[in-house]
Amino acid sequence: MSTSNPALQPLCTSSIIGTGSYLPEKVLTNDDLSKIVDTSDEWITTRTGIKERHIAADDQATSDLAAEAARRAMTAAGVTPEDIDLIVVATVTPDMFFPSTACFVQRKIGATNAVCFDISAACSGFLYALQVARHFLNAGSRTTALVIGAEKLSSLVNWEDRNTCVLFGDGAGAVVIRAVDADTDAPGRVLSTVMGSDGTLSDLLKVPGGGSALPITPENAASRPNTIHMEGRETFKHAVTRMCQASEQALEMAGLTKADIAMVIPHQANARIITAIADRLGLPEEKTFVNVDKYGNTSAATIPVALDEAHRQGRIKRGDIVLLVAFGGGFTWASSVLRW
Ligand SMILES: CC(C)(COP(=O)(O)OP(=O)(O)OC[C@H]1O[C@@H](n2cnc3c(N)ncnc32)[C@H](O)[C@@H]1OP(=O)(O)O)[C@@H](O)C(=O)NCCC(=O)NCCS
Repeated sequence: MSTSNPALQPLCTSSIIGTGSYLPEKVLTNDDLSKIVDTSDEWITTRTGIKERHIAADDQATSDLAAEAARRAMTAAGVTPEDIDLIVVATVTPDMFFPSTACFVQRKIGATNAVCFDISAACSGFLYALQVARHFLNAGSRTTALVIGAEKLSSLVNWEDRNTCVLFGDGAGAVVIRAVDADTDAPGRVLSTVMGSDGTLSDLLKVPGGGSALPITPENAASRPNTIHMEGRETFKHAVTRMCQASEQALEMAGLTKADIAMVIPHQANARIITAIADRLGLPEEKTFVNVDKYGNTSAATIPVALDEAHRQGRIKRGDIVLLVAFGGGFTWASSVLRW
């Protein structure tokens, strides 16, 4: 965002110069799930729009998914691993508590010059990470960053809970962003980002156990506290409200209006949430990107995976105004406006 004080004008801005995504091979359909829990393709499709999701292999960790998405983004950007000087991974399914998943990605792709850390903001994580990386680039302290959203949510799902197990999937998406001169009109520029959080609503969507507040013990293990717990209806309402507000704020910050949007790429949790947002923004179907039917909710990975698909399918073109908007546990929310 530009400011009126010339002394505060950023020297650099950030441009997305390459995108990549990776979905693990195994596909789990709604019919497959109906053999595990009391559900049906009809219920899942009507309530969520999800038809299938991808599930990582037992020997694939989140960093494996992330590293593959990162390689594809670097190829698209035409950069080498040595060019990368910052890696930020957004995830709620890190390989382990520490080291960070970003450090594992660094090792796997050979990005020897990078500073690496993770961001925890659930489904808003990718846009949080994009904003953090952008600050490093705009301030001139780093030049080329990998921003990755990656999840192995199948490791956090209670496969006996039909309320949640039908909703989630595994996957990873990545972008390479580069600092560019603030005066140029380089493609892929991030024009604005807004973020918000409301920790008073943290109980509505969480993995309560497995951390320092509630370690897993032989006594509590059977109740599966280390799996996703969600109040679906309440989460739904907050998601729609916050994503609409954040979209409007990010547009205003970029000096644009709803009429300027060529494509909205919302967090992919539920097709009904996406429709509600598109309706409130007055956007027709062809300006709303949806792939929740193929992948379910992959948390921090949904937006970079969708951005990569939208680009590769030619649904977004150079110069288009693209609105990204997310909502997740915390609660957290965020929105970014790009000029593609
Ligand atoms: C989870 C969600 C799909 C549930 O849809 P819903 O219309 O709110 O459904 P409800 O939770 O009210 O459940 C309705 C009934 O379906 C049942 N049900 C839940 N999951 C089911 C399933 N997989 N198959 C069949 N029935 C199911 C419930 O038990 C309930 O039955 P009851 O009325 O006999 O108690 C929806 O609330 C949602 O998408 N919420 C937001 C999710 C989200 O965005 N999360 C991530 C944010 S990042």
